[in-house]
Amino acid sequence: MKIVIIGGTGLIGSKTVPILRQRGHEVVAASPKSGVNTITGEGLKDVLAGTQVVIDLANSPSFEDKAVLEFFETSGRNLHPAEAAAGVRHHVALSIVGIDRTDNGYFRAKVAQEKLIETSGIPYTIIRSTQFMEFLGGIADSSADGNMVRLSPGLFQPIAADDVAAIVADVALAAPRNGIVEIAGPERAPFNEIVARYLKAVRDPREVVRDPEAGYWGGRVEERSLVPLGEARLGRIGFDEWIRRSQARG
Ligand SMILES: NC(=O)c1ccc[n+]([C@@H]2O[C@H](COP(=O)([O-])OP(=O)(O)OC[C@H]3O[C@@H](n4cnc5c(N)ncnc54)[C@H](OP(=O)(O)O)[C@@H]3O)[C@@H](O)[C@H]2O)c1
Repeated sequence: MKIVIIGGTGLIGSKTVPILRQRGHEVVAASPKSGVNTITGEGLKDVLAGTQVVIDLANSPSFEDKAVLEFFETSGRNLHPAEAAAGVRHHVALSIVGIDRTDNGYFRAKVAQEKLIETSGIPYTIIRSTQFMEFLGGIADSSADGNMVRLSPGLFQPIAADDVAAIVADVALAAPRNGIVEIAGPERAPFNEIVARYLKAVRDPREVVRDPEAGYWGGRVEERSLVPLGEARLGRIGFDEWIRRSQARG
């Protein structure tokens, strides 16, 4: 089967490509670097010819509110008609748990991306994931105020990128759900505690302060804003194992 991964060079994309190739599929890692651009439309028609499944793992180069909304809207408006013309039978996209429960510019853009998928007419599965463990350092940096990192005690359940890629590959090979599946890491704990564990593990001296008023990318975080409320498929890699693997990789 021919599978095109839009954003196949990114964090999750580059881990998903080899899994699907190993299972015997023809996989194209498509991105601007390889001449496929969902914003300009460049290369889309050619790369989608003969494709059964498209996995969209692209991300906006800018996280500024307006730029990210424009990225996901323009991308969907170019990609979906091109997929329909090529007869694509399954569109898989990676979204985020809780995007409709916490208000921030990035989450609003992901809601817009999901709406375009749902109305595209192409059979689809949206995978809503919790935050990637690989994102913990970035979260600490974005919440830092000098030597203090202010974070909400709302529940947090990060998942390792290796687990995300394995699940994305499984979902892409299954029948379209025409709905949303949720995925999360195997451990759930307050946001401030997980980031404190992370900073300690990487010997970062900054102190994490528990602050119920601290937002996430500007949005308010309640106790269960960022974790799945219903059934979710869990990754296998716990925090300690993920730290061990990341340190082994250097
Ligand atoms: N971070 C989290 O915790 C989290 C949680 C849940 C879901 N997600 C979602 O997961 C998805 C993948 O994230 P990631 O961290 O793996 O992304 P990433 O590492 O930032 O990679 C982004 C990819 O998008 C490609 N791209 C950028 N502009 C493009 C364009 N105009 N046309 C086609 N491709 C383009 C890049 O290609 P080049 O290499 O050529 O630049 C790259 O392959 C995103 O949709 C994100 O919203 C993230």
